[in-house]
Amino acid sequence: MTQPRIVRTLPGLHRAVARWREAHQSIALVPTMGALHQGHLALVRLGRRRARKVIVSIFVNPAQFAPSEDLASYPRNLEGDLAALAGSGADLAWVPATETMYPPGYATRVVPSGPASVGLEDKFRPHFFAGVATIVAKLFLQCRPDIAIFGEKDYQQLKVVTALARDLDLGVKIVAAPIVREPDGLAMSSRNAYLSAPERAVAPTLFSVLKSCAGKIAQGADLAGVIEEGHAEIERAGFVLDYLQARNADTLLPLASTRERPVRLLVAARLGRTRLIDNVAV
Ligand code: PAJ
Repeated sequence: MTQPRIVRTLPGLHRAVARWREAHQSIALVPTMGALHQGHLALVRLGRRRARKVIVSIFVNPAQFAPSEDLASYPRNLEGDLAALAGSGADLAWVPATETMYPPGYATRVVPSGPASVGLEDKFRPHFFAGVATIVAKLFLQCRPDIAIFGEKDYQQLKVVTALARDLDLGVKIVAAPIVREPDGLAMSSRNAYLSAPERAVAPTLFSVLKSCAGKIAQGADLAGVIEEGHAEIERAGFVLDYLQARNADTLLPLASTRERPVRLLVAARLGRTRLIDNVAV
């Protein structure tokens, strides 16, 4: 199986990218924080179908974690990640050190608004999207990809990076990849590793509630009533709910009327110490 080349320095990355550009080979970037699972690998395969070369970045970005969040305990397993990438179609693994991304004296932040300030993830993780936009802008400028693949799993993040690429003329086309799920419906996530066995058994409730709510909304049921029922069902299963909201799928703004389309149903909820997010189209 072909192993991607591991590159840890900016000059090394720039040399590889320059060679590909000279040969007129298109480049896809798949940004990740590692702890790779089948969801990430599906993004790599999509990148491979859409471009000649695929770069996978692996960097646990401190700027998108609040002091109270799980930066220290976030799963890190570079050896496992590289094994997972073998034969995946990735050509290069970009694995920068923290000092490469944030050298001493680092002083710049990209602060997004629009889809980054609609009262979903931004309400519960106020620091999060500036951290994501800053690192994604850096990754785009370092790797100069033609396209970048992002999962619908992080639906609001997908909208934020799409606006970022467009607003700053970064010359990168954002490609969305569908959510990859476990057989029982739970959306794959690096954070699923935190779940205890009983929590893991309950976790798929999130998706089953999303699906049943989306079905009712599609059939024209009263929106507020459907959301209220879904809310109660999620809490009955043992979650602490951050939000369950039906939003305009493009702008992420609240719906002006029940007939408004396209609609996306988004949820975030905590199960013990694990925070899970998911979403479905209506
Ligand atoms: P991470 O959580 O590692 O996710 C990397 C990419 O994989 C994101 O685009 C995410 O949406 C996608 N992904 C994760 N689980 C998925 C699933 N089950 N199905 C489909 N896609 C999935 O998101 C981040 O890292 C970071 O915020 C990052 C963009 C790398 C910036 O640091």
